[in-house]
Amino acid sequence: MKILITGGAGFIGLHLVEKLLKEKIDVVIVDNLSSGIRERIPESAAFYEVSIEDLSIEKIFAMEKPDYVVHLAAQVSVQVSMKNPLGDCLANIAGTINLLQNCVKYNVKKFIFASSAAVYGEPAYLPIDEDHPQQPISFYSLSKQTSEQYIKLYAKHFALNYSILRFANVFGPGQNAHGEAGVISIFLHSIFEQTPPIIYGGEQTRDFVYVKDVADGIYSALHNGRNRTYNISTNTETKINELLTLMLKKANTNLTPVIKTQREGDIGQSRLDNTQALTELHWVPRYSLDRGLQETIDIYTNKNS
Ligand SMILES: NC(=O)c1ccc[n+]([C@@H]2O[C@H](COP(=O)([O-])OP(=O)(O)OC[C@H]3O[C@@H](n4cnc5c(N)ncnc54)[C@H](O)[C@@H]3O)[C@@H](O)[C@H]2O)c1
Repeated sequence: MKILITGGAGFIGLHLVEKLLKEKIDVVIVDNLSSGIRERIPESAAFYEVSIEDLSIEKIFAMEKPDYVVHLAAQVSVQVSMKNPLGDCLANIAGTINLLQNCVKYNVKKFIFASSAAVYGEPAYLPIDEDHPQQPISFYSLSKQTSEQYIKLYAKHFALNYSILRFANVFGPGQNAHGEAGVISIFLHSIFEQTPPIIYGGEQTRDFVYVKDVADGIYSALHNGRNRTYNISTNTETKINELLTLMLKKANTNLTPVIKTQREGDIGQSRLDNTQALTELHWVPRYSLDRGLQETIDIYTNKNS
């Protein structure tokens, strides 16, 4: 079995690549290294440094003939999408269409798409299930929502199989402090730099899912996913200030956080219902926030000591 992973040099991508290689699956990575890291790509994975926007990716499909495509590559920053909506659209919408065209032409068996809880906007109720109304509040979330619609139309008109995975706030080792939902890596960075972490508000809640569980969720979707949408989440919520207290305790530091007012557009509460993923994907998140944080801090400490 051969799987083409776009964005395979990024945070989630590298964890997925590691898992697939362990399962003895052939892996092909397509990544333009805009934020991905070449040195972290395992030698046993084939790697093409190219943008998903580039029409030349057809040559990769023709040569590699992947059985499955996992599409993780994206412009991932909400802030960047607000400053440069066209750039966001080209990477996230046009890039996705470019892949879909090739998936149809080269008979890919299934297309797995990394969408986001951001498509829901401010929740009308909790936990947020997959049928919750969608109200994108940034161009990033609009580009994810639009890509989802393209995928469904490709499925309808060209019989493409797909599963759409809407990730909650993913965290874990290897995350940089700039991407979407990187609050844990931002705090970690402050803690290890011994600079006071900044909290904007703090009463907001988020659903934090560990990156190894996300990689397992993608793997389960390859095998068990139907042509539908699944929340990949833990169905638990944690306040940001409680998260920081826990992290400071685990890192054994007594830095005093700087409290600022909550930023405009920051949603109040988030918790995603994962029942559909549990029952249909036969996937269970194995990491609590506590366990995931411990593993992340241990890996971070070992690397920097
Ligand atoms: N991290 C989260 O909490 C989270 C939450 C919801 C959804 N997601 C989605 O999951 C996916 C992976 O996110 P991540 O956290 O690993 O981000 P990341 O920035 O670490 O990885 C994205 C990868 O895509 C590559 N890339 C970007 N634009 C590209 C392009 N035009 N062509 C080819 N490669 C390109 C980057 O170099 C990088 O390696 C993204 O689609 C993101 O929107 C992430």
